[in-house]
Amino acid sequence: GTWDTGGHPHYLLKEIAEQPATVARTLSGRLDERFATAHLGGLNLGPRELREIRRVKILGCGSAYYAGEMGAQLIEELARVPAHAEPASEFRYRNPVIEGDTLYVAVSQSGETYDTLAAVQEIRRKGGRVIGIVNTVGSAIARECDGGVYLHAGPEVSVASTKAFTSTAVAFALLALHFGRVHDLSPADGRRICAGLKALPGQIEEILAGREEIERLAAEYARHDGMMFVGRVRGWPVAREGAQKLKEISYIHAEAYPASELKHGPLALISPALPTLAVVPDDELLEKNLTTLGEIRARGGRVLMVGHRRPDARLAEDVIVVPRGEPELDPILLTVPLQLFAYAAAVALGRDVDRPRNLAKSVTVE
Ligand code: AGP
Repeated sequence: GTWDTGGHPHYLLKEIAEQPATVARTLSGRLDERFATAHLGGLNLGPRELREIRRVKILGCGSAYYAGEMGAQLIEELARVPAHAEPASEFRYRNPVIEGDTLYVAVSQSGETYDTLAAVQEIRRKGGRVIGIVNTVGSAIARECDGGVYLHAGPEVSVASTKAFTSTAVAFALLALHFGRVHDLSPADGRRICAGLKALPGQIEEILAGREEIERLAAEYARHDGMMFVGRVRGWPVAREGAQKLKEISYIHAEAYPASELKHGPLALISPALPTLAVVPDDELLEKNLTTLGEIRARGGRVLMVGHRRPDARLAEDVIVVPRGEPELDPILLTVPLQLFAYAAAVALGRDVDRPRNLAKSVTVE
């Protein structure tokens, strides 16, 4: 059940392990393979209204914000509508310009995060249209929104978000597919994405089966005081979320940078004392990413690459190979080994995995 760890040593591991099922629940009844689209009954937006949307602005805090960054990429890739994520906490304090042809999307596992709720209220006060991607049915944010998508991931108990993160990314993929098919996404591409989504639970299962090797690596890397996380474009939100997870539960200092930004400053940090976890999907940026790994190695930095194939041994000491799906959906799969890595690092250091210091599960105050 929800309120026991189901034989796992921690809720966090239970929730990581649940993801094949929780992702399947987020997808359940929503894929229409005949018309190569997604059905989202709670959206309250018809095709004509959707076509009038010129921009998408996504708001959330912490991991919900990083999941929103993944979502913005999915919407831009599949629907070719400009989309951008911003921390809800910043948005609400900066007197935001609210536009009639923008769709606002609030993201929250708990549905009770005060900063996100305040952002939603500000949008509504100014006449904007806001939908929610929320896990908790009937929560404050869900009630404030004009419509939305429920995750159906079940209650998340551990403070660090895992299953809600992947389900949020899947909900965005469904939204992007639906939105894309109202715009110019072809039926063939729509079918490709439907098939890719259906394959996710089985692929997550495969990643979970490789847990022991990830645990072994995490225990080694946990001997360092800090880590760099890098990724480019599709790998970037994955790297941000991976760094957040590591610092949140292991208290190891973790910096996330776009791989392309390293040479503009943080490369000065690279040394044998600061290893790098690099998220390297096998996409059109593979060569660029491998060049970055070479630059890190040349400064004596140890590299753990998470990607789809083993590169030249000189570029990465350690590699976690993840099953490959549709390129647009790969960030979802690449996230899972980073969850296991953070979990195992925290366990190796004897941390209070489910209740990290200084943090609350949902931040319901200003
Ligand atoms: C995630 O691991 C964190 N505990 C935190 O960043 C969290 O995602 C954030 O506070 C937002 O919570 P919400 O999804 O319930 O709104």
